[in-house]
Amino acid sequence: MIIDEALRLYPPGAIVSRTAQNRDMLCGTPVHPGDTVMIPIYSLHRHRNLWEAPDSFVPERFADRKAVPRFSYFPFIDGPRICIGAQFALTEAVIILSTLLSRFKFTQVPGAIPSL
Ligand code: HEM
Repeated sequence: MIIDEALRLYPPGAIVSRTAQNRDMLCGTPVHPGDTVMIPIYSLHRHRNLWEAPDSFVPERFADRKAVPRFSYFPFIDGPRICIGAQFALTEAVIILSTLLSRFKFTQVPGAIPSL
């Protein structure tokens, strides 16, 4: 949940693009073959219509993974060109986080208040 929430707030691939192969309509806007369609992952991950308190760090929002709409959250994008390292990256991140937490005690730097 912590890794998911970190990737929601700070997706390393903040924006990706796709080249349209065929005609389509996107929210009433025509898309022509060859057009570049930008997918603003960072903005979707913080969209007020999709998330409650979008700028807050709330790992619990991922407690029920099925409750998160598929196209509201995709740090690894989706579809045929989804990141092939997604599962590896998530496994690695959890191992790194649990290793650090088991070996170090993290404390707040006096006077340094994290802000959004
Ligand atoms: C937190 C870590 C990672 C994030 C957030 C991430 C995110 C992404 C995103 C958003 C894309 C799509 C880019 C695009 O289509 O423009 C992508 C593609 C890709 N990623 Fe990752 N990635 C991560 C880690 C990894 C790792 C660890 C590997 C390899 C071990 C990897 C291998 C790839 C490859 C090969 C592609 C291209 C897939 C394709 O186009 O068919 N990624 N990744």
